[in-house]
Formats: sequence, C-alpha cells, structure tokens
Amino acid sequence: MDDLLNVFDYERRAADLLPPGPLGYFAAGAGDEWTLRENVSAYRRWTLRPRLLRDVEHVTTMRTVLGHELAAPIIVAPMAYQRHAHPEGEVATARAAAAFGTIMTMSTMATSSPAEVAAAAPEAPRWFQLYVFRDDGVTRSIVDQAVEAGFRAIVLTIDAPYFGRRERDIRTGWLIPEEPAVPALESALGSMRSTSVTEHFKLISPSISWRDVERLASETRLPVLVKGIHTAEDAVLAVEHGAAGIVVSNHGGRQLDGVAASVDVLPEVVEAVGDRVEVLVDGGIRRGVDVMVALALGARAVLVGRPVLWGLAVDGADGAQRVLELLRDELQLALGLCGCTSPDEVTRAHVARAV
Ligand code: FNR
Ligand code: LAC
Repeated sequence: MDDLLNVFDYERRAADLLPPGPLGYFAAGAGDEWTLRENVSAYRRWTLRPRLLRDVEHVTTMRTVLGHELAAPIIVAPMAYQRHAHPEGEVATARAAAAFGTIMTMSTMATSSPAEVAAAAPEAPRWFQLYVFRDDGVTRSIVDQAVEAGFRAIVLTIDAPYFGRRERDIRTGWLIPEEPAVPALESALGSMRSTSVTEHFKLISPSISWRDVERLASETRLPVLVKGIHTAEDAVLAVEHGAAGIVVSNHGGRQLDGVAASVDVLPEVVEAVGDRVEVLVDGGIRRGVDVMVALALGARAVLVGRPVLWGLAVDGADGAQRVLELLRDELQLALGLCGCTSPDEVTRAHVARAV
C-alpha cells in the first residue's frame, strides 16, 4: 500500500479492483455529472491566505462536533450497500472510523444491521442516516432499531424524494444481489426482494415535508441533523423545525445535477444560521486543504463519502482508516502552514475567492 499516497491513488486502485456494476454505482453522479465534478473542482476556486510566524510547533486536528470530541473535523458520510465494496462492508467502516477517532454515519440502506455496526465498535459514537418511508411504520421501526443500537444522532436525508437518474447504473444494469441483505429495511418491511436501487427508492416517501422534520425532532430523543440543505432559506427552516445540525450537501452530485458545488453554498448557509446550530458540509473533499477551506467558510466539520469507500474497497477497515489518516495528516500540515495550531483558529480570513 506504500504507493498509495493520496485519495486519488485509492480511487484509481479501487477502480481497478471493483466489478463494473458496483464501481459505477459508487462513482456515479446524476445526469451529466456536472455537479459531481463541480463538488471537487469548486475547492480549487478558493485560495488559502496563510498567516505566518505564529509558532506552529504543536498543531492538533482535534475538534468537538455536536458534543463529540473527534480526532479531526472529518466524519464518515452515510453510504449505502458497502458490502459491495468489501465483504465486511459497514462493519469494517465502523471499525475504521472508531480506530481513527471519528463518527461513522450508517445508511438506512446499509448491508449490515444497526446492531452489527454497533457491535463492531461499541465505544465509538455513531450516527444513523434516515430515509422517511411511505409507510410510517417502516420509518418508526428503523428509528427504533437505531435508538436500540445506541446511535447518537439521526441524520435525516431530505434531498431524495426521488432517486437521481444515474446513467452509469442504467448502462451497467446493476441489480442489487439478494445477498448481502439490507437488514434495517428488511426487518422493518418484513421482507424485501432483491432488486435495483431505483426500486428500493420507490419505498421512500416523496411527500416528506418540514412537518416530518419537526415530528422526528420532537418524537426522538436523539438530535436530528438535516442533510441535503442547498440554500440559506431551507437552512433557516431546518433550524425553525428543530434541527440540531445542518449538513450542506448535494448527495455527492447523485441527485439533482445542476446544483452548485456544496462548498459554494456553504457561506450563505453559515451566514443564515449563525451560531444557532453547527453546520457541516460534504461533497468533493479529496484533500486536507479542502477541509481547511470548508473550516474557513464556517463548517464545523466535513463528511467524507467516496474516499472512504475507495479505502474500504482497496483494503477493508485498514484501507478506510488509512484514507481518513491521509486526510487528517494533510489537514494538520495545512493548518500548520496557515499559521493555525488547531481547527478552532481557522477563520474566514484564511481563504479568498480565486481570481
Ligand atoms: C451516498 N450518499 C448517501 N447519502 C445518504 O444520505 N444516504 C445514503 O444511503 C447514501 N448513499 C450513498 C451511496 C454512495 C455510493 C455514495 C457515493 C453516496 C451521499 C453521501 O452521504 C455524501 O453526501 C456524498 O457521498 C458526499 O460526497 P463525496 O464525499 O462522495 O464527494
Ligand atoms: C444513493 C442512495 C442510496 O445515493 O442514497 O445511492
């Protein structure tokens, strides 16, 4: 693994290893994949403004996020069907996140049960990503499973009333094999046939509204983060409806192609929300300097998606952990070279719009 020096190296290695169906599913964006590419390239439109001669002998990447003390402001994003990246799937990702010292967010569409993920790293904090289903009983059962397994927050994904159209999946014709199963959903439904991701999504409610956010926030004892915020307007509504946190996200470019890169939406959301709740961002983080930019624009932390999957595909839990460590090491170096001894010292003045 010594020749895998960065996230892009892991991405290329994973692409060599994975079969076309799962690879296409993991890598895909919607439509022309313009937003998918923008998520990454938008970070290059922000430049760093280092401050020098500030004694950076001791630099820590540690940061507290929603009360959890993390090794770095880097959280694992929810991603579905991880056993198609590696046989140990979400269980390996949970171990990697715990060993690294951060939170893993488990997807509703995970190929391991909430209890299995909890058992993989019992001491580590973990969050549960929720989809709201047409059948209220299904949603409730899934929330109950997460609560029972000791998940510490619900991350409610709001940008998927319909499934984005991903042409790579149409071209490969990938159908989810019957095994491994999607335990949380199957146990809530009583059964589930093997089918396409699109079919799974037909169970998700397109009538989800702010009322659901409010109800979830008041009925669950866990904090609810709203994931998939694209505008200042909706960020304010999220706070008004009881969100404990916001994730600025376009689902890794997989839903509505044509929306702005998430980092470019971050400033308006941070401005609208102020100090009322913590704002997180995901999409396109591939380098430690990207985390630095996100912090400077007001993110409390970032979520990282595909890079963790590539690490998982290449070397299971060790690979996923290594990817997180690479990002952390790059962030630590960026902090030091910008004159910051911790993420808390990063300010808006550390970035400028590239000309
Ligand atoms: C996702 N994402 C996602 N989000 C969510 O809320 N629930 C889910 O089940 C999934 N599943 C999923 C599968 C795969 C293969 C990918 C790549 C992504 C979106 C994810 O949480 C996150 O928003 C993006 O992946 C962030 O972008 P990057 O880091 O992949 O560029
Ligand atoms: C995806 C879903 C499962 O992006 O959220 O594929």
